Amino acid sequence: MAEERVGQVVFEAEEIAAAVRRLARAIAADASGEPLLLVGVLKGALFFVADLARALPPSLDVRVDYVAAASYGDSHRSSGQVRLLKDTSQSVEGKQVVLVEDIVENGWTLQYLSGLFQARRPASLRSCTLLDKPYHRRTEVAPTYVGLRVPDAFIVGYGLDYQEKYRHLPYLAKIAPCASGETRGRPGNKEA
Ligand code: IMP
Ligand code: MG
Repeated sequence: MAEERVGQVVFEAEEIAAAVRRLARAIAADASGEPLLLVGVLKGALFFVADLARALPPSLDVRVDYVAAASYGDSHRSSGQVRLLKDTSQSVEGKQVVLVEDIVENGWTLQYLSGLFQARRPASLRSCTLLDKPYHRRTEVAPTYVGLRVPDAFIVGYGLDYQEKYRHLPYLAKIAPCASGETRGRPGNKEA
């Protein structure tokens, strides 16, 4: 895709916020008062983990850490070869860990991180993805908590990028090829 524009909006900011609140309720219920370590997967989960942490009950003992992962693939898809660019700054041993992902597509990233963290002997390991794109799954991994299912398209916004662009959009939208003469912008239509 040489030129692209932001296309159809798939989820508005309010719908994302409602999904984040639902996920926080489910995670808090399962935590049953025990300390929780949220591990956000950068960069895509940047805003998601920040909103999710703040949606958890203030009375819960919540810690936030980050990893950064990248895979050798093109700009659209990840590949089976995932590598860790940044590790957590605290030990996960004995902790209730929730991996916080932006989107699960093939499942390579989640599979890699689940294996890595399981080997570190946490008290429990769960995973939470804001978005699920299950059409091209290549692995057996299933996220414990899923926020929203997106259509089989490339999605940007709320932390998700296309070539490092569009992470700042407060909504989630499809990326569309830009036909010559077309102006860039956001159409008003919205997919159900
Ligand atoms: P997986 O390893 O195939 O499950 O892909 C997960 C990673 O691929 C995500 O963390 C994203 O970085 C990227 N990815 C997959 N689909 C999309 C998309 O629609 N928009 C933006 N990034 C995506
Ligand atoms: Mg990405």
